[in-house]
Amino acid sequence: MPDNVILRISNVSKSFGAIRALRGVDFELRRGEIHALAGENGAGKSTLMNVIDGILRPDSGEIIWDGKPVRISSPTKAQKLGIGFVHQEIALCPDVSVAENIFMATTNISRSFLMDYKGLEAKARDVFRQLSDIDPSVLVRDLSISNQQLVEIAKALTLDCKVLILDEPTAALTETEAQVLFGIMRRLADSGIAIIYISHRMVEIFDNCDRVTVFRDGQYITTRNVAEIEPGDVVNAMVGRKIENLYPDKQTPEETSQDVILEVQGLTQAPRFRDVSFQLRKGEILGIAGLIGSGRSEIVKGICRLGGDVTGEVRLNGRQLTLKHYQDSIDAGMVYLSEDRKGDGIFLDMPIAANVSALKLDQVASNLGMIQSDLEYSQAASLGDRLNLKCGHLSDPVSSLSGGNQQKVAIAKMLSVSPKLIFLDEPTRGVDVGAKAEIHRILRDLARNGVGIVMISSELPELIGVSDRVLVVREGRISGEVAGEMMTEENIMHLASGLDAQELTA
Ligand SMILES: Nc1ncnc2c1ncn2[C@@H]1O[C@H](COP(=O)(O)OP(=O)(O)OP(=O)(O)O)[C@@H](O)[C@H]1O
Ligand SMILES: [Mg+2]
Repeated sequence: MPDNVILRISNVSKSFGAIRALRGVDFELRRGEIHALAGENGAGKSTLMNVIDGILRPDSGEIIWDGKPVRISSPTKAQKLGIGFVHQEIALCPDVSVAENIFMATTNISRSFLMDYKGLEAKARDVFRQLSDIDPSVLVRDLSISNQQLVEIAKALTLDCKVLILDEPTAALTETEAQVLFGIMRRLADSGIAIIYISHRMVEIFDNCDRVTVFRDGQYITTRNVAEIEPGDVVNAMVGRKIENLYPDKQTPEETSQDVILEVQGLTQAPRFRDVSFQLRKGEILGIAGLIGSGRSEIVKGICRLGGDVTGEVRLNGRQLTLKHYQDSIDAGMVYLSEDRKGDGIFLDMPIAANVSALKLDQVASNLGMIQSDLEYSQAASLGDRLNLKCGHLSDPVSSLSGGNQQKVAIAKMLSVSPKLIFLDEPTRGVDVGAKAEIHRILRDLARNGVGIVMISSELPELIGVSDRVLVVREGRISGEVAGEMMTEENIMHLASGLDAQELTA
């Protein structure tokens, strides 16, 4: 039914210099549907959303809103039409409160003296209550990434929109938080709002969306009813080839070793975590699970001396380490891939190549202390190739890359120092299925070559698919360990929450 269509994109193109991000794409959005947009990193998904939101002007093509051609010249104009946008990268003002961040969005569009502040506040509170128990008066900078993401979502939900765009909203959320969001999305759709949902997680698309459109290399490939296809079909349309094994082989019994790479004993940083002890053996990938706020990241950061004083012992290959700063940890051969690539993962304004070599500048510096850019570039190029990095030129700033490709730069940066032990915090957040499988393969190869791998992930299928053993953290302590057949989502959730399976599904 054509009159059911709220937004139609017709033959839209957009280039950034030599990069053709969108090549004559079409897209149709109906009222009341949840429409997934899928595609590899760099396929053009966010670019199209930025066009719809008036952030980018298309080079050519047409946008038809409610049956009429429109020019969306700015985000304010988009908001006035009724377009709400939750961006892939969090864009809140860190130094003001949660409530003010939410209000800023609304006041932006109706600068009227008669604005119903009371009503607005009530609405914001209502939206917020559904989403989380965050105190609206705290400063955004004091929130975790996942809570910041929830504020972004609340901000968009407070606006009265007809079209809601969610660009990878669950990348920083745990399963439970994501489920709450899906419930809200369905209610909004039932009330007639059209939702565009971008995600690299097939399960989410198949559990929550009505239709899916696939882009590849800036081109429109297909739109299908989710009920009529399989996840494998979407993956094939995205990558244009079959992906056989999503996860690499695990460590075989012959490969197991008693050699201990890392030994942590009695690590404590009260009240964040207490008495954490574990070992990492040669050749294994150790997963760390836990709810957000359980202390997973803090423990790993504590080992690498990234966050304040800790007590306890850390031994690397049998040698006790005395670390004061993160640089000592890098020098000893331990690196940490942050879950917050924007905050402390990469330097957005610096060239891709410089980022890749940023951890250990002396490796690419000549005797005179000058950075040898040839070496820097060749190193970046070879790591970029391995990770299938999609970029124009290695001298371009990281900010010009798509979200998933930025994540690949963060991983390349870490690998560039040839570490002995790597801690990865949500390493494949926002990374597409193909590149994700590649990253997992690289991690397995590294483990086989004797590099210690410790991986935190909120995505349980990933944690189970990749790890040989999983430690579960609850309230700052290790609450259990699972391996082999015991490594199931249920067992992990049980250890993470303290609830048993029945309580979890209730
Ligand atoms: N401001 C920019 N300057 C230069 N190139 C850009 C810019 N924004 C996007 N690009 C390029 O356009 C292409 C499409 O990027 P886009 O962000 O739309 O991808 P995406 O499908 O959202 O990917 P992801 O899943 O990684 O978020 C990429 O090759 C990207 O590097
Ligand atoms: Mg994107």
